[in-house]
Amino acid sequence: MSIVVVGGTKGGVGKTTLATNLAVMRSLAKKDVLLIDADEQGSAADFTAVRNETVAGGAGYTAVKLYGAAVRSEVLRLASKHDDVVIDVGGRDTAGQRAALSIADIYLIPIFPGSFDIWTLEPVAQLVIEARAFNEKIQACCLLNKADPKGADNEEAAAIAKETPGLTYLDCPIVNRKAFRNGAAKGLAVVELKPSDSKAIEEINRLYTATFDIQKVSK
Ligand SMILES: Nc1ncnc2c1ncn2[C@@H]1O[C@H](COP(=O)(O)OP(=O)(O)OP(=O)(O)O)[C@@H](O)[C@H]1O
Ligand SMILES: [Mg+2]
Repeated sequence: MSIVVVGGTKGGVGKTTLATNLAVMRSLAKKDVLLIDADEQGSAADFTAVRNETVAGGAGYTAVKLYGAAVRSEVLRLASKHDDVVIDVGGRDTAGQRAALSIADIYLIPIFPGSFDIWTLEPVAQLVIEARAFNEKIQACCLLNKADPKGADNEEAAAIAKETPGLTYLDCPIVNRKAFRNGAAKGLAVVELKPSDSKAIEEINRLYTATFDIQKVSK
């Protein structure tokens, strides 16, 4: 059983994309998954609504919208009824994100290479420090999303992540690929999309394994 939060304090970096892909993949692995949409934009819930229409048999996981302190209280009540919980939060420092961090096992922070002159990971590191005060088990991991296939921007972003105290750098970059956008539009994980994009699948599989293996190691 793990509670995975996909978050950060930056918008548009792929939190919902990764949260929905991981939730679907975990459900395809026959786990009973609870996907929490803790972002008032409701993108994960929208994804699920599309998915319920496009996939025969339905989404394959349970989706619930929760905001603010209820993210903690309701997930604590619901978690034991499921195998794993994936929480998608908004791209700001919200009460919902803090509530999620207070119960998280794994905090995945996608970062987008480029524009590092205008922002840093400091606010996220600070959130983690505060969360650790009452949730020691939290493992906070940054990874690159919408990365370039290779190049200096990736390396620069990875270096910043590695230098940030309290955060672990997960070496499983997800490259900017159309398959991730196409999947989202259809309510599909990239592993379900036809024609399939083998590189995108390989990348998301690496992240999936890293995410759920961290948990194995820590238990
Ligand atoms: N690896 C990727 N390759 C290509 N497009 C991507 C990738 N990851 C995300 N996207 C696209 O980038 C956009 C933003 O992604 P997403 O909505 O997942 O970000 P977010 O962090 O959840 O945003 P918000 O802060 O608004 O909640 C979407 O159009 C999504 O399809
Ligand atoms: Mg989102």
